[in-house]
Parts: sequence; structure tokens; C-alpha cells
Amino acid sequence: VKTIGVLTSGGDAPGMNAAVRAVVRTGISKGLNVVGVRRGYNGLINGDLIDMSLRSVSDIIHRGGTMLYTARCDEFRYESGLQKATQTCIDHGIDGVVVIGGDGSFRGARDLSLRGIPCVGIPGTIDNDIACTDYTIGYDTAMNTAMEMIDKCRDTAQSHDRCLVVEVMGRRCGDIALNTGIACGATSIVVPEVPFDMQKDCLERIQKDLTRGKRHFIIIVAEGYGKVEEIAQQVGDFTGITARALVLGHVQRGGNPSVRDRVMASEMGHYAIEKLLCNGIGNRVIALKDSKIVDFDILEALEQKKEFNMELYRIAHEISI
Ligand code: F6P
Repeated sequence: VKTIGVLTSGGDAPGMNAAVRAVVRTGISKGLNVVGVRRGYNGLINGDLIDMSLRSVSDIIHRGGTMLYTARCDEFRYESGLQKATQTCIDHGIDGVVVIGGDGSFRGARDLSLRGIPCVGIPGTIDNDIACTDYTIGYDTAMNTAMEMIDKCRDTAQSHDRCLVVEVMGRRCGDIALNTGIACGATSIVVPEVPFDMQKDCLERIQKDLTRGKRHFIIIVAEGYGKVEEIAQQVGDFTGITARALVLGHVQRGGNPSVRDRVMASEMGHYAIEKLLCNGIGNRVIALKDSKIVDFDILEALEQKKEFNMELYRIAHEISI
């Protein structure tokens, strides 16, 4: 392996820059040429490449977003897109690619590996929804951002004796909702992984709390469940208190990465290069398992099923009375 490409793909996540920096610096220090691929797989299809140097990744470790830009690329799902991307790699002598992104991006890395360009995936998404790893880059920062926003909502809910129903990100995964829900003392946490009984798990809990003197409430709902307006309406109708719905949205994807995200990104970025160099066969995903950085075959990784932390969910339920 002499020249490697690095790209960020899918939704951006705080810490992606730190991962790019680690890939570039490790690669160069091991004698490789490193090429930045812009806007995810689109950059491979269109040849939108930039030469990376030690200095080109200066002053980015603390920044949110991604200096390489990112995108979800439909064309890459089809043979024509894959062929163009493979040709770009051949034309520029790229003999390995590090892909920082989520599940969808790893499918692309698998397809490119199958065409003879070794790829290594680094999990980067705020959702923490990748089954093979206990942690994805951006997750910690996103949760802390959500927590800060919900704390602010709580001040106003408290002043007005209201219920706030807050949607946090997580399309298929309730991890952000579960953890921020606990951190913010939510009365109910609603996630796509667990059936939710509106009457029992929310309305009657609020009613009971009202009789015990509690006057304001926070309900956290994962995006994958949604329906915050509907929940707020039902809370208002059933309990008589004023309820407001709020979608936190993309604010959770931005901001300076936390220590955890910067360190995790640096470690994973470094490991990715070592992997590409040691076997040159690619088709691997870097993961955190039981506090250790490990790697899996991409096919195996994509087949794993993400487990929801039911024990933590049960604890949350029990302590939120
Ligand atoms: O995968 C990260 C994520 O932020 C999800 O939580 C959310 O559903 C999705 O991306 C939003 O995507 P977009 O920025 O394309 O609207």
C-alpha cells in the first residue's frame, strides 16, 4: 500500500475531523501518500480529490463537521457509480481507502473492497446504531449537546408548570434518547426498540406525579418513534397541564467534539492505517468492544444485530417516578 484515500460519508458527526487528522498523520508518518476524497463517495466517482499533508489537518481536531465534506451518494449503489469510483482509484494509484461513516457507508466500503480496493471503515455517526461496535464517533458530543438543550427546556418547563415532549435524533436507535432521558430526569423515555404504552407508561405516570406535587415534566422521544406533537396533545388532554412539543434536530450533529470523541477518533484513525498496512486486504470495520479497539470483517459486521440496553431502560423507568 502506497497511497490511501480518506473520506467521510453519510451524516456528519463531531469527531470526524479528529479521525481524518489521525488517518492523515499516521499514514504520512508511516511513509504513505494520503489523498482526501471530498463529499463522500461522490468524490471518488467525480475525482474530487485533494492531497493531504501534515499541515492540511492542522487546527481541525476541535472542530465539528468535516473538512472533507460529506454526502449520501445514491449513484454509488449502482454498478456505474462503483465502476467510476474504482477507476478513479486506479487512475490515482489509490490502493486503500479509509471510510468514516455509518452502516450505509460500510456497505459502500464492502462493495469497493470486492472490486479490489481494500477499504477500512471507521464508525462515525451520532446515532450509535452500528451493531458491531459499542461506540460510534460523535455519539458522546451529540448526547451532551442534547442534554444541554433539554436542561434549558427544563428551566422553562419548570417556570410554567408545563410538560415538554422533546424529540432527539436516532432514526432506528434509541441510545441518544435513553441516555439523555436518564441524564435529564425524564418522566418517560420513548424509543423505537421497546413497545410504548401511552396510557400506562406516560399519561398515568404524569397523573400520579401531579397528585404527589410534581408540576413539570420532560418526555424524551427518539426520532425513530416520533409523534411528539401527538404525544403532547394527549398529555394535555388527559392531565390538563400545558404540553409543548419540540424537535431538537440538527443542532445535535454540530459543535466541538468532546474529549471522548476526539480520543476515540484518534485511536480508531490510527488503528485503521495499521490495519490497511498489515494485511492490505481491507474489508474491515474498526470497532470498540469491551473497551478495546478491534476489527471485524465488513460482511460479518453488517450482519450483526444491534442490542438495546434493556437493563438501563428498566433502571430509567424505575427511577423516574
Ligand atoms: O444518522 C444520523 C442522523 O442524524 C439521524 O439521527 C437522522 O435521522 C439523520 O441523520 C438525518 O439525516 P439528514 O441530515 O440527511 O436529514
